[in-house]
Amino acid sequence: MEKDVLILAIESSCDETAAAVVKNGREVLSNVIYSQIALHTEYGGVVPEIASRKHIEKINQVINQALTEADKKLEDITAIAVTYGPGLVGALLVGVSAAKAISFATGIPLIGVHHIEGHISANFIENKELEPPFVCLVVSGGHSHLVLVEDYGEYEILGRTRDDAAGEAFDKVARAIGLGYPGGPKIDKVSKEGNPDAIHFPRAKVASAEYDFSFSGLKSAVLNYLNSCQMKGEEFNQADVAASFQKAVIDVLVEHSMDAVKRLGTTKFAIAGGVASNTGLRSALEEACKREGITFYHPSPVYCTDNAAMIGTAGYYEYLKGVRHGFDLNAVPNLKLGE
Ligand code: KG4
Ligand code: ZN
Repeated sequence: MEKDVLILAIESSCDETAAAVVKNGREVLSNVIYSQIALHTEYGGVVPEIASRKHIEKINQVINQALTEADKKLEDITAIAVTYGPGLVGALLVGVSAAKAISFATGIPLIGVHHIEGHISANFIENKELEPPFVCLVVSGGHSHLVLVEDYGEYEILGRTRDDAAGEAFDKVARAIGLGYPGGPKIDKVSKEGNPDAIHFPRAKVASAEYDFSFSGLKSAVLNYLNSCQMKGEEFNQADVAASFQKAVIDVLVEHSMDAVKRLGTTKFAIAGGVASNTGLRSALEEACKREGITFYHPSPVYCTDNAAMIGTAGYYEYLKGVRHGFDLNAVPNLKLGE
């Protein structure tokens, strides 16, 4: 019998300090996430300096807990996978340094993982039958990409946002309508009480690139609407604004995704990233896929937002391909997918 491949994975690219142990790519033995969200809430967003300091405080504890919960020791680990970009440089450096230190002290091979590749790979954890090729919509706080996953670790970017990421738009609009940070889950919840057709917000198209997204115009349209209400001395309906904004985002994401899937003739479609846990988006995509006869895949919410299990899964496929990094591995804040 072949020996199990056990990946110790570390993720610290933004405001979650996370570690996990993943067996043979798709079996999560532990998935420890220390979320800093509460710390950043009073500032209305992630403060990079605070994030780095908290990662330093928490990283060893989180790694130890991941090993303990998996009932594994460092000697059992086949390789260490760590997010090395994209993300906040100071935050990334904490995870990368911890992974390098463990690798140096133990001789366990080191594998640097792209954060977006991690998000996409989250789909493999609970969908054991899912294999490339498929189209994946990655929508998070920092990224909005439509990607063709050609093979494990091989990607073609079909489209990307020209300005704000989808999650960023959720967070900014939430702040403007008084919901606070983090905005995505709050808009999701409040939208259920509102009328999505109450206000018509624009659905932006990028003329030269049909799969690209643009959300800053939508954000401005919401701000203008709020402004005009204020000028007229009228109260705005928070739930209606949230629902109408969310509908505008969903319409664009669904339309672009379905266009790509149909054009490429793939039969599988997946979503990933923090915004992929949005209940409205999930049901709209579920319906659209059903209509088109496409199988729809999505991770559970815990694997949508930042976590280390997804890094372990991506790291496993990099490990199989023979990818190994040296101690010169560095944090790359603007790392591009496929580099
Ligand atoms: O993937 P993630 O944890 O971090 C990044 O890599 O950016 O995504 C965080 C983003 C935040 O912008 C948050 O507001 C958004 O995902 N988000 C949501 C929902 N849950 C998280 N957006 C819409 N609906 C949700 N339910
Ligand atoms: Zn992320």
